[in-house]
Amino acid sequence: MGKSKVLIIGGTGYMGKRLVKASLAQGHETYVMQRPDTEIGVDIDKVETLISFKKQGAHLVPASFEDYKSLVEAVKLVDIVICAVSGVHIRSHSILLQLKLVEAIKEAGNVKRYIPSEFGMDAEKMKNAMEPGKVTFDDKMVVRKAIEEAGIPFTYVSANCIAAYWLGGLCQFGKILPPRDHVIIHGDGNLKGIYVNEDDIATYTIKTIDDPRTLNKTIYICPPENILSQREVVQKWEKLIGKELHKITLSKDDFLASKKALDFGQQVGLSHYHDILYEGFLTSLKIGDEDEASKLYPEVKYTTVEEYLEQYNTLTSLIRPSFSFPNHTDRQCKIFNTTPASPLLPEIASVTQTPIGRYPFPGAGGTKFSRGLTIHSIYYSDTPATNQMDLPSSEVIIHVSESKTNFLHPCSDQLLLFPDWRRRTACTVQGTQSCK
Ligand SMILES: NC(=O)c1ccc[n+]([C@@H]2O[C@H](COP(=O)([O-])OP(=O)(O)OC[C@H]3O[C@@H](n4cnc5c(N)ncnc54)[C@H](OP(=O)(O)O)[C@@H]3O)[C@@H](O)[C@H]2O)c1
Repeated sequence: MGKSKVLIIGGTGYMGKRLVKASLAQGHETYVMQRPDTEIGVDIDKVETLISFKKQGAHLVPASFEDYKSLVEAVKLVDIVICAVSGVHIRSHSILLQLKLVEAIKEAGNVKRYIPSEFGMDAEKMKNAMEPGKVTFDDKMVVRKAIEEAGIPFTYVSANCIAAYWLGGLCQFGKILPPRDHVIIHGDGNLKGIYVNEDDIATYTIKTIDDPRTLNKTIYICPPENILSQREVVQKWEKLIGKELHKITLSKDDFLASKKALDFGQQVGLSHYHDILYEGFLTSLKIGDEDEASKLYPEVKYTTVEEYLEQYNTLTSLIRPSFSFPNHTDRQCKIFNTTPASPLLPEIASVTQTPIGRYPFPGAGGTKFSRGLTIHSIYYSDTPATNQMDLPSSEVIIHVSESKTNFLHPCSDQLLLFPDWRRRTACTVQGTQSCK
């Protein structure tokens, strides 16, 4: 039997382009859906990606979710349909578009297997996921139901945590690059996640498509060496950079308190982090060897967490900002309470509060700041039970300590606060004049 012909939908996306590459690499005649120019708009990267697929030997098939007939015609060309439409709310989310595709596959009647856009936590096992993140899994379950009711043969690929989204930032919510000074530890940092290189996900997915062992089943990608707690991930990075990071523990309550200030897409992401790092949804995952990709395909040498993190080592050094705080002397100085009282305090100047949420702002932890000081955390003095967005401009408590490194900060006089400075969750630092 020859190798199946494969159609990939969502082929220019983050997972899609890897699936195209893996399908070609494993010798499948590969078709990629090309959406019309009205949908591509001026997305020049998409066009470039499509051209590169063509050069590598893929066939481009014009079709659109807006044109049902074109979908039917496209799926008639192949044996296997793999869909990788978007499903990350911070970018875009179009999982339910697949309902049209399922209809088209049913009508075409020739498809031997459909692999829907999944590649994450097994939707079936996420029934108790936190809102609003649960929507990701609910939508995927709606698609599964449609597939099964239509009698379409399928394989569901559960890839757990896609590495770039989780490992890049050492499992810190809202981060995709690893730090070199401090790290936020979610909870006790001991609950296990399962981290998988996205290229490996694509390789395993293509392996399943002609494999009778994976028909009408969920296949889990759980590389044994990559089942790690956040603390273990951090340790691997520390070993790579030869330095121990300052750890700041973030309790579940404080983590969840930051949710209200986020937009919907970010809240979805926060819910997923909650489920994995505070609730340990993946810690209790029990998978038989017959359902686990690295056991089914031992010939695939998967990427370990160390290997994955290695690529960030040079990158992080290169993009490390080197900004020195400008002109200390013409700035205003104001003294705050400190706990414990610090002889270094006069080095810290006034902070104008922007009402931004409940304490503490963990992103401030470890921020290297003026004259070799490290700010470990910032607390409002009127801490408990304060309305999130309605804090008075009152005192703050700043924990400082001496730091050996000079101040390096990416965004001029903004303190970097959780989860990211672009959302303006920042205090403006007005000055750093010495009060001695
Ligand atoms: N567990 C994890 O850690 C994790 C992380 C990330 C993603 N995932 C999962 O991986 C899967 C793929 O996500 P991704 O990040 O690779 O997606 P993506 O790059 O955001 O988007 C993939 C493709 O979706 C198509 N698309 C988006 N909006 C569309 C629209 N309105 N109409 C038609 N097509 C549209 C586009 O296809 P074209 O190429 O045709 O333009 C796009 O390239 C999802 O199921 C997601 O939930 C899991």
